Amino acid sequence: MKKEYIIVANWKMNKTIDESEIFVNNFNNLLLEIPTSKVIFCPPFLTLFYMNELLKDSPYGLGAQNLHWEESGAYTGEISAAMLTSSGISHVIIGHSERRQLFGETDKTVNMKVQKALSSGLTPIMCIGETLEDRKNNKTLTVLEYQLNNGLENVAAGDLGKIIFAYEPIWAIGTGERAEPEQIDEAHRTIRNVVESIGVEENISILYGGSVKSININELLNINEVNGFLIGGASLDVEEFVSIIHQTEKHIKKDN
Ligand code: 13P
Repeated sequence: MKKEYIIVANWKMNKTIDESEIFVNNFNNLLLEIPTSKVIFCPPFLTLFYMNELLKDSPYGLGAQNLHWEESGAYTGEISAAMLTSSGISHVIIGHSERRQLFGETDKTVNMKVQKALSSGLTPIMCIGETLEDRKNNKTLTVLEYQLNNGLENVAAGDLGKIIFAYEPIWAIGTGERAEPEQIDEAHRTIRNVVESIGVEENISILYGGSVKSININELLNINEVNGFLIGGASLDVEEFVSIIHQTEKHIKKDN
């Protein structure tokens, strides 16, 4: 069966509106053809709205980097699901480790956000991953199980297949040190098993994130368990990002 990849650019707190426009123009010029992979851009909130105009009529998706679980109200600085959907946004990253570590996100808030995204018709990109200490203490799989079981509490089995999962080992984010293929394979299998045991019937998509670059993408593409990538630093550089997409497309063609 033809494998489909999902490639998500997480721009974090980078790029102004002008820089985004330059990126999109260069992106369209450099890409050799429309990719079969699903490419989703997750710029900061302000740019998100403008990117929606820039990418109008394109096959690329747009995602936010966060949302609030309440419908509306006195939550200064927050963005609601309805604001996203009414602006044409289809995806939302939830529970990124930077939000967990720097902004007090917990499995409980991840859970509320995942439920809100699903009930609003947004596709959650739910991030989980272990710290270096967890890995050194052989706790990786337990941590992943815990994050999944708590983050997915009360999510209907029929909705689990609508979630995109992202395995991002925290020690591999922005460090240039990606996880080894065996580590990724093991983590992704665990994620698949846990979500299956909760009740999902269809195949779920699990992305890998953490120092994905054009120089290591080929090794990562060879890991059967990987359905795509959540890319930080390398998605900010248009040539680097396009190279990752080109190599992915080449890999898909080779396999068919
Ligand atoms: P880097 O690709 O910069 O390591 O970031 C990964 C990430 O956090 C994507 O969400």
